Amino acid sequence: MENQTGITGGRRQRIILFPLPYQGHINPMLQLANLLYSKGFSITILHTNFNKPKTSNYPHFTFRFILDNYPHDERYSNIPVQGMGSFSRIFLFNQEGADQLPHQLELELSQKDEPHVSCLITDALWHFAQSVADSLSLPRLVLRTSILFCFIVYASIPLLADLGYLDHSNNKHPEEQVVEFPMLKVKDIMKTGFKREGNAIEEVIDNMVKQAKASSGIIWNSFKELEEPELETILRDIPAPSFLIPFPKHFTSSSSSLLELDRTFFPWLDQQPPNSVVYVSFGSVAQVDEEHFLEIAHGLVDSKQSFLWVVRPGFVNGSTWVKPLPDGFVGEKGQIVKWAPQQEVLAHEAIGAFWTHSGWNSTFESVCEGVPMICSPFWGDQPLDARYMSDVAKVGVYLENGWEREDISNAIRRVIVDEDIRERARVLKQKLDASLSKGGSSYVSVESLVAYISSL
Ligand code: UDX
Repeated sequence: MENQTGITGGRRQRIILFPLPYQGHINPMLQLANLLYSKGFSITILHTNFNKPKTSNYPHFTFRFILDNYPHDERYSNIPVQGMGSFSRIFLFNQEGADQLPHQLELELSQKDEPHVSCLITDALWHFAQSVADSLSLPRLVLRTSILFCFIVYASIPLLADLGYLDHSNNKHPEEQVVEFPMLKVKDIMKTGFKREGNAIEEVIDNMVKQAKASSGIIWNSFKELEEPELETILRDIPAPSFLIPFPKHFTSSSSSLLELDRTFFPWLDQQPPNSVVYVSFGSVAQVDEEHFLEIAHGLVDSKQSFLWVVRPGFVNGSTWVKPLPDGFVGEKGQIVKWAPQQEVLAHEAIGAFWTHSGWNSTFESVCEGVPMICSPFWGDQPLDARYMSDVAKVGVYLENGWEREDISNAIRRVIVDEDIRERARVLKQKLDASLSKGGSSYVSVESLVAYISSL
């Protein structure tokens, strides 16, 4: 982990970073910001008021708040803060941003007492930012927070729509292989939730792909040895340079956590035997209904393994926290918390498996710690990540058929005792660690990114 900057003099250049305001996007952007700061750049973060991170954790950065500075504006206050509905902000912000961002950037660029602004780095989903940056002749790089494979599939959404893969009334069998992406089944594409061209979300994805291709560079939270064929495709199809950097190996995401971190369970975790505890968390947005929540609880208890389960307030639709569970239901073997320092948990020797929703940050944090996974994706990139982890990297078991307690307890027992899957997860982590040493692919990627930005 890099905590010392080693920079003694003034900072030569400034970088403006603009994350998408959701936990799974804020974390990698602030990890990237920390990394660039450690390499001598001055950092300015543009952020919405919605989901703003604790700025006091980043005294070395300058924060500016944009897009939703009028809290009583009903267009924002009516949007849900939890679940898929909360993503409506992305559509609105992409519209509003074209008006507001140029003004903010002009202000930043005109500050004579600040270092020269080298570039703007935005989340790839802020697609409107490319034309704004172009109009100011400011290079824009994007941070794409998913696996490369997901980007390639997303770039093919119009084709997949034409071929009928997004049409739920098609006559393709869910278990059928997708000819264009042989590692995927039809049901994986269906599970992304995309329906057909022309809907708001498909439009955002389409624009994200186009504007990322038009950018001055793409930064990925990944590493070369994980996705070599996909990297070849990206390098062939996209003229802008790509930089694959495993952020969790440089900085943890605890400091950008939007929820309070509970650490009270660590004395309990310290007493558990190595590789014996299942860590369970479904990220910052996913929600289940009460029936599925109870099925998850039964599956965990029936597995007879110890478990640490993150139940985020709002995770169970229409219920306050763990209310549907009868008192004492989880017994001695289970611990339930509202939010945990996930990377620290995954690094703990007692953790034997991670039951995850396959969000990319969670998935990659697990890869970084060599922890095998049980994958229960909800939507978007998650089914693609789950398939990649189970069928390509072979470090996960994909719970493909929903929330049946028997399937759950079987999968947990299988992953905990399966030495082969644990060994593959360990080897993958070893490859990742090797890529960070001098001359390794991830090491070179960081150096190339720094050199590239310095040249702008
Ligand atoms: C969303 C999408 O769901 C995901 O698919 C996409 O790749 C990024 O945006 P989210 O659902 O929150 O993100 O999942 P994920 O990408 O896994 O990010 C969750 C983050 O929250 C991780 O960095 C994880 O370490 C952190 N976390 C989670 C905690 O710090 N504590 C917890 O208890 C649970």
